[in-house]
Amino acid sequence: MSWSTSPSCSSVCLSSSNGLGAPKLQNNQQRFHLSVLKKKGKGLPGHCRLSKVVAYYGLREPPYKLDALEPFMSRKTLEVHWGGHHRSYVEALNKQLGKNDVLYGCTLDELIKVTYNNGNPMPEFNNAAQVWNHDFFWESMRPGGGDMPTMGLLQQIEKDFGSFTNFKDKFLQSALTAFGSGWVWLVLKREEKHLALVKTSNAVNPIIWNDIPLTCLDVWEHAYYLDYKNDRTKYVNTFLDHLVSWDAAMVRMVRAQAFVNLGEPKIPVA
Ligand SMILES: [Fe+2]
Repeated sequence: MSWSTSPSCSSVCLSSSNGLGAPKLQNNQQRFHLSVLKKKGKGLPGHCRLSKVVAYYGLREPPYKLDALEPFMSRKTLEVHWGGHHRSYVEALNKQLGKNDVLYGCTLDELIKVTYNNGNPMPEFNNAAQVWNHDFFWESMRPGGGDMPTMGLLQQIEKDFGSFTNFKDKFLQSALTAFGSGWVWLVLKREEKHLALVKTSNAVNPIIWNDIPLTCLDVWEHAYYLDYKNDRTKYVNTFLDHLVSWDAAMVRMVRAQAFVNLGEPKIPVA
C-alpha cells in the first residue's frame, strides 16, 4: 500500500499508543474515522508502518427525531431521504475512499474542494458533496421552524435583499428556476461581504467558490415527492414558513463574521 496525502489535505499519521485509534477531531471539523488493521506493512516511516488503513465517514443523524418535522416533512420522507439516499452517499463515498488513499486525511470540506478539481470533478466529488449537503440540510431545519430571522441576520437580509418579503420571493424563485436536481443556498459572499442566493446543480456545493453557506434547501425531487408530489412551490413555501431554522443560520453567520468583516459594527483602530 502506498502512503501519501494530497498536498491540499492535512497529513495524518496514526500515532495512538496501540496503533488502533483514530486521530482526534481538529477545529470541530469532522475527520475520517479510521479503522486500522493490525498487520504491519513495509516502506512506511516509523510508527506509521501499517499494511492496511480503511477510512470511512459516518452517517450523522438529524438533530431531531425522524417524525419531529411532521406534518410538514413526514417521517416516511426522513426514512427514505436520510435513511436511504443520504446513507447511500456515505456508503458509496466510503467505498471509493477505500480505493484512493491519496485522499486520506482530508476533512470533508477539504475533500470537496480537492475532488472538485477546478471544475473537473473526480469520482469521489458527488458523494462527498452530497454527504456534506445533507448533513447541513438536516441542521438547517428544526421542529417549529419558519417564521422570521431575528436581530443581526434579519438586518443583514433586509440590507442585502431590501426586505424579508423580497428575500422569500427570491428564494422561492431560485428554487423554482433550479432546473432538475440541485440545491438553493443562502450564502455569505466572503469577498463581496454580502448575502446572496445561489443555485447549484446536482451535488455542487458553494464552498468550492469560497462562499459561506448559512442555510440550504434540497430541491432534488427525492426531498419532497412523498409529501408534495411534484408541487415544488408548496414544498419551498412550507420550508420557509414552518421548517427553516433561522437560529442555525444566525449561528452560522455569527461564526462567519469571525472571518468576514461585514462592516458592522465599526471597530475603531487604536
Ligand atoms: Fe437529498
